[in-house]
Amino acid sequence: MSKAIVAEGLTKRYGDVAALDGLSIAVDEGTVLGLLGPNGAGKTTTVRVLSTLLRPDSGTATVNGLDVVSDARRLRTMIGLSGQYAAVDEDLTARENLEMVSRLYRMGRKRSRERATELLERFDLVEPADRPVGGYSGGMRRRVDLACALVAQPSVLFLDEPTTGLDPRSRIAMWEVISELVAGGSTLLLTTQYLEEADQLADRIAVIDHGQLIADGTPDQLKDRLGGERMEIALHAAADAPEVSRALASLASGEITVSEDGTEVIVPVANGAEALLDGVRLIDAAGVRPAGVQVRRPSLDEVFLALTGASAAPSAPAAGPASGTVTPPGVPGQAAVPEQAGPDDQEVAVAVKETIR
Ligand SMILES: Nc1ncnc2c1ncn2[C@@H]1O[C@H](COP(=O)(O)OP(=O)(O)OP(=O)(O)O)[C@@H](O)[C@H]1O
Ligand SMILES: [Mg+2]
Repeated sequence: MSKAIVAEGLTKRYGDVAALDGLSIAVDEGTVLGLLGPNGAGKTTTVRVLSTLLRPDSGTATVNGLDVVSDARRLRTMIGLSGQYAAVDEDLTARENLEMVSRLYRMGRKRSRERATELLERFDLVEPADRPVGGYSGGMRRRVDLACALVAQPSVLFLDEPTTGLDPRSRIAMWEVISELVAGGSTLLLTTQYLEEADQLADRIAVIDHGQLIADGTPDQLKDRLGGERMEIALHAAADAPEVSRALASLASGEITVSEDGTEVIVPVANGAEALLDGVRLIDAAGVRPAGVQVRRPSLDEVFLALTGASAAPSAPAAGPASGTVTPPGVPGQAAVPEQAGPDDQEVAVAVKETIR
């Protein structure tokens, strides 16, 4: 399978901060790469380099075989981008925004009108379509921006947190759009804080932190890295935890852990079904009545936590139990990321949309 995106040894520094520190990634044509990482990991910087908006300090990257620096102009007509912050013209209506982008892609007037109508329907924007975007809610703007990224039906699409701020219905609609695009042969690089989203949509996941790749693989491979399945024994009394841990030592394929309040023992196991049967017998033989016993695979959330020491979105609506966001020491959070391009961005400058203007 040929590669639609190849990045090798990308670096980008902002003062003392290495936003990208030798990052290499590759995405097969017609597949989805989910780029994950805690706040400040370098996700947006990666997207901006690959979508020609930002020149790397060193390293190389190609998209559709074209160099993101030297072939930037040609490349811009082939790719779609929806940045982390919606970039729509507030004075124009949703319909006008879409028609403007279509025209920038040199589509004829009639085709531009048709495409705008299609996308307005697709993104549930028919009702507000003829009001200026300035009066839209955040989620509505986000949808206009996403629709703009899809105007030209690009073969490679970069979506930076495409579903952040969308309500559950719009998120599902977005997932459908993404699945359709990929079924149609598009290649997608998406960043997300919703691990469940990456699990659903991405063929492969790259986890980055401090501008470096720290793990890469299919969602299943990443889960396997954390040691296959886990048996979880819920206890009525914390006092039983040491006894249960002792009883199950022979089943464990890794370190047994006990929850902070002592009422849950977690045992990594190799063969879940067998371990479950044996485990129940051993607990029974130890004279303990558990409150519950289950075997499950680690969630992507646990993988993420184990890899980066940080959890993903604090309030991912469908991503299982929520946990707080931790920013690793020395990594400034999003507040430190200016929305405007930094001085050295200006050479390559201007958003894809503006370039074609
Ligand atoms: N224009 C800039 N000027 C100065 N520092 C920057 C700039 N852009 C990014 N950085 C820094 O580079 C690092 C990576 O930022 P980036 O925006 O790529 O992270 P991210 O993974 O997208 O984070 P988030 O999840 O918060 O969106 C951060 O430490 C950030 O502060
Ligand atoms: Mg970002």
